[in-house]
Amino acid sequence: MKAALNARYSSTEQPTAYADITGYNNFYEFGTGKDDPRRNAHTLRPRPWSVTISGEVEVPGTLTLEDILAPHALEERVYRMRCVERWSMVIPWVGFPLADFIKRFRPTSKAKYVAFRTLHDPKQMPGQRAGWLEWPYVEGLRIDEAMHPLTLLAVGLYGRLLPNQNGAPLRLVVPWKYGFKGIKSIVAIHFTERRPPTSWNVAAASEYGFYANVNPAVDHPRWSQASERRIGASLFDATRPTLPFNGYAADVASLYSGMDLRRWF
Ligand code: MTE
Repeated sequence: MKAALNARYSSTEQPTAYADITGYNNFYEFGTGKDDPRRNAHTLRPRPWSVTISGEVEVPGTLTLEDILAPHALEERVYRMRCVERWSMVIPWVGFPLADFIKRFRPTSKAKYVAFRTLHDPKQMPGQRAGWLEWPYVEGLRIDEAMHPLTLLAVGLYGRLLPNQNGAPLRLVVPWKYGFKGIKSIVAIHFTERRPPTSWNVAAASEYGFYANVNPAVDHPRWSQASERRIGASLFDATRPTLPFNGYAADVASLYSGMDLRRWF
């Protein structure tokens, strides 16, 4: 895939190995173990694919993957990613800003939130026959978070198409939030005036808030969030302190000024 590096928005840290990025995953539609997605996600058929845009927009509609990609130049962005489970990676994503995509549909003044939905098809996603989450997986952002220049729709990593286990053919990447906000295999994007439900908040509201900003000062009820384990790093420097907003505070902290981040976790 042709994608120019966006240096302004890229970390200079050593990227995590391809085998770790594609072999240590959370994608509950294919099982709850870290290596289940790599073993099981071959049943997903990411092409042909289409995404429905609905709600508070002037131009709703259903677009094929080709329609989605056509107007956008792909960029490579090396992002630090931090999971709520305290592991982190550095991932060279290929994608384009979600803001550029959203502008095509002309959101109305009532579009305060953006809701995302994953494919629901137990034939392709056998984990959906189990009840460990409510299906389909859903996520949401406030419109200003969705329009932030760091927020990406990713279609690849390491210069290749996204492997199924990483959310082919299209997934969200929000580098200042815990990884679970990065919904995979998106089939619907809906603009709404009211805050939409999000899968992990529905599953355990006391553990996973709507915002899910990486915040070392707010513990998860069952563990501290002050540090993280970098996957693939040598034992010597595998554990490191977690930074506010995962190191992206200079870019995004202003989105949350005036909010009590202990309450809005
Ligand atoms: N999207 C869907 N549809 N289903 C999931 O189970 N897991 C989330 C997120 N997106 C998940 C999902 C979680 S918990 C994490 S940490 C990231 O995907 C993991 O992304 P990765 O496997 O590409 O690192």
